[in-house]
Amino acid sequence: MSKVTVVGAGNVGATVANVLAHKDIVNEVVLLDIRGNFAKGKALDSWQQAPIDYYSTKLTGTDDYKDTKGSDIVVITAGIPRKPGMSRDDLISTNANIVVSVTKSIRKYSKKAIIIVVSNPLDVMTYAAFKASGSEPNKVFGMAGILDTARYRAFLATELKVSPKDISAILMGGHGDTMVPLPRYTTVAGIPVTEMITAAKLKAIVNRTKKGGGELVKLMGTSAWYAPGAAAAQMVESIIKDEGRIFPCCAWLTGQYGIKNMYLGVPVKLGKNGIEEILKLKLNKSEMKLLKNSANHVKDVMKTFNKMKII
Ligand code: NAI
Ligand code: 2OP
Repeated sequence: MSKVTVVGAGNVGATVANVLAHKDIVNEVVLLDIRGNFAKGKALDSWQQAPIDYYSTKLTGTDDYKDTKGSDIVVITAGIPRKPGMSRDDLISTNANIVVSVTKSIRKYSKKAIIIVVSNPLDVMTYAAFKASGSEPNKVFGMAGILDTARYRAFLATELKVSPKDISAILMGGHGDTMVPLPRYTTVAGIPVTEMITAAKLKAIVNRTKKGGGELVKLMGTSAWYAPGAAAAQMVESIIKDEGRIFPCCAWLTGQYGIKNMYLGVPVKLGKNGIEEILKLKLNKSEMKLLKNSANHVKDVMKTFNKMKII
């Protein structure tokens, strides 16, 4: 038996639940939202898709944490998304309180659940959930790198006119404009990407990736949900199936890459215990400089969170 709770039944949360149901890998998905019957409606709509798309995962919606009891994994998407002109960091004053209270409520009914944070500003909200959960850091981590890497891979696929399936890449750092796409670790069907594209075009794609979230906010007036929802569902899948897939995730660092006591995007192995391992790439000087710059940015946002004294 496996049960997943998704907190926040808005754009991202409802997508996580729907994509997970389509994978048909867990028995039960509970959607929880503070907005009265909203989660019930979203879950019922997704459940009514089951006879059409052939899945058995039972979806239910609620506004009561009792219904989340015994969850194996909880995905937290509760919080406000950014609007045009806002950075992810501008969301902290609202979302920090939400993420801390959600995590505490979850822990009342699911003492051991693995927690995947999606709410922004991602790296610091993951830290907030870690602090509020009282869990080991391998059980609390964040989704951003899969999404950011997917954007990078999609842009490359368009430019090279190849299938996105054949593009493999890794990206590190915080979920913000300082993120660090890594062309040296990017391949197209095993071929180094640098052999297939000019340096100028690659640079432009790296820059577009860094601002990929903002591009969508400008287009839609709110932030993205299809790729983010699918990314979080992919993390759940690797844990539920104990696949040991390697993804960039927001993880607690204890000295890896010379960085400690903070959450940051790094390549990890995801399995039944959550983060099973943090991979250590041999970054060169300039890659390391970019990573440290990104870490320093996240540290500044952490300071804002700590000053709030919620925990
Ligand atoms: P949304 O506004 O569509 O949905 C958020 C939902 O959270 C709403 O239904 C709201 O009622 C609910 N909510 C608010 N407070 C709550 C509480 N205390 N308990 C339970 N539910 C509560 O927003 P959307 O687009 O789904 O985004 C959600 C969050 O995810 C935002 O903070 C956004 O910035 C972030 N995000 C992060 C990404 C990442 O890569 N890590 C990607 C996309 C979005
Ligand atoms: C994104 O990158 C808003 O963090 C969200 O789309």
